[in-house]
Formats: sequence, structure tokens, C-alpha cells
Amino acid sequence: GASAAEYVPATAGLGELRAAAASCRGCDLYRNATQTVFGAGDRNARVFLIGEQPGDREDIAGEPFVGPAGRLLDRALAEAGVDRTRTYVTNAVKHFKFVPPERGKRRLHKQPSAAEVSACKPWLLAELRLIRPEVVVLLGATAGKAVFGPKFRVGEHRGVPVDMPELDGERYGMAVATVHPSAVLRADDREAAYQGLVDDLRVVARLLE
Ligand code: URA
Ligand code: SF4
Repeated sequence: GASAAEYVPATAGLGELRAAAASCRGCDLYRNATQTVFGAGDRNARVFLIGEQPGDREDIAGEPFVGPAGRLLDRALAEAGVDRTRTYVTNAVKHFKFVPPERGKRRLHKQPSAAEVSACKPWLLAELRLIRPEVVVLLGATAGKAVFGPKFRVGEHRGVPVDMPELDGERYGMAVATVHPSAVLRADDREAAYQGLVDDLRVVARLLE
């Protein structure tokens, strides 16, 4: 199937990896998006956060979690006692997938397929190999499935640290799953959903003590 594998340099630092990802054509998503949105953050991060895919704002800015979901995530991390500037933040899929917009309307995010998540996974594995985090935060089902496979359910695992699975013969500490910040923005009871996210992120803060 489609894969980014042939675009990922075998030995590379973070800068070279990011540069190589800019010309990835491992699946069809590069065709309609503005640019690759690679991970960003602290090279020495102990915490590695994985979202789903860039949104409209991230696609334009070229940076992960800078739109409304990113602002909510920033607030939740701060409240939980996790310093975002000391984390590394990335997405399971590096290109924005969207429904063709109606004239003058904002482009609406469309969930990436399992095949697209799988195609993009070599970038995620390369980022993990370089950062070597102690705690991996799975923001929503797509991130959970990218790491643990298609049967993963956030509802069954959220807020409970589990060992990371072996990936490419490597293990990276613990994983903590939680809801996606965009799901909080869409929730009927937004305050309760937000508190749930903060509670799960407090579990992350405790693992770092
Ligand atoms: N949602 C995500 O999953 N990632 C982003 O970078 C922005 C919104
Ligand atoms: Fe490559 Fe991932 Fe973009 Fe597909 S989504 S083109 S695999 S970077």
C-alpha cells in the first residue's frame, strides 16, 4: 500500500527529517494540502504528544496545534502542570485532509483513513526514534490507532498509563490516551469534557515527577 517509507532518510537529525517530509508523496494527501505539517517542539522533550492531522489553520501556518484546538490544548496542559514548550507535538498524519469547501467557507477537516495513517507512520516512528520520549500522549482515536492498532478505543484506556508497544524494535516509556482537543470543542458539555482532558493530562504530569 501507500507509504512514506521511501521518503524517510535512514539517518537524519530532526531538521533533515522535517526537510525530507516537506516533499513526501507517500499517499495522496499532499495533493490538496498546502504543505507538510511536521512535528515541532523540544528536541529533548520527555513528553511526546500525538494528534490526528493538521487542521485548516495548521495547514496554512505549517505548525501543529496552532489553531483553536491548539489553544485549548495549551490551556489544558498549563492547567495540568505540563509545560508545552518542553514537549514535542506532532500528528499521526502530516497533511491536512478536508472536504472541498463551499465558496468562501472554511475548509472542514475529514478523518484520515486507516491506510493514510499507516502510510504516514514511518514519519511518526522516525520522530519517536529521535526524541525518545518517556511519556507519549495519544490525543484521540487516530493517534491511539496509529500506535496500538485499529482496535484501540480511547474510552477504554483514557487516563490510564500503559507501556508503549514495541515499535520497530524500540520501546518508549508509557502511553497515556485522552480525548482529542477538537472533541472537547464539539462536546455538548464542553466544561466537563475539558475537565476530563485536564484530568488525563494530570496523569502525565505525575509520571514526570
Ligand atoms: N488537530 C490535530 O489533530 N492536530 C493539529 O495539529 C490541529 C488540530
Ligand atoms: Fe506523506 Fe504523510 Fe503527507 Fe501522506 S500524509 S503525503 S504519507 S507526509
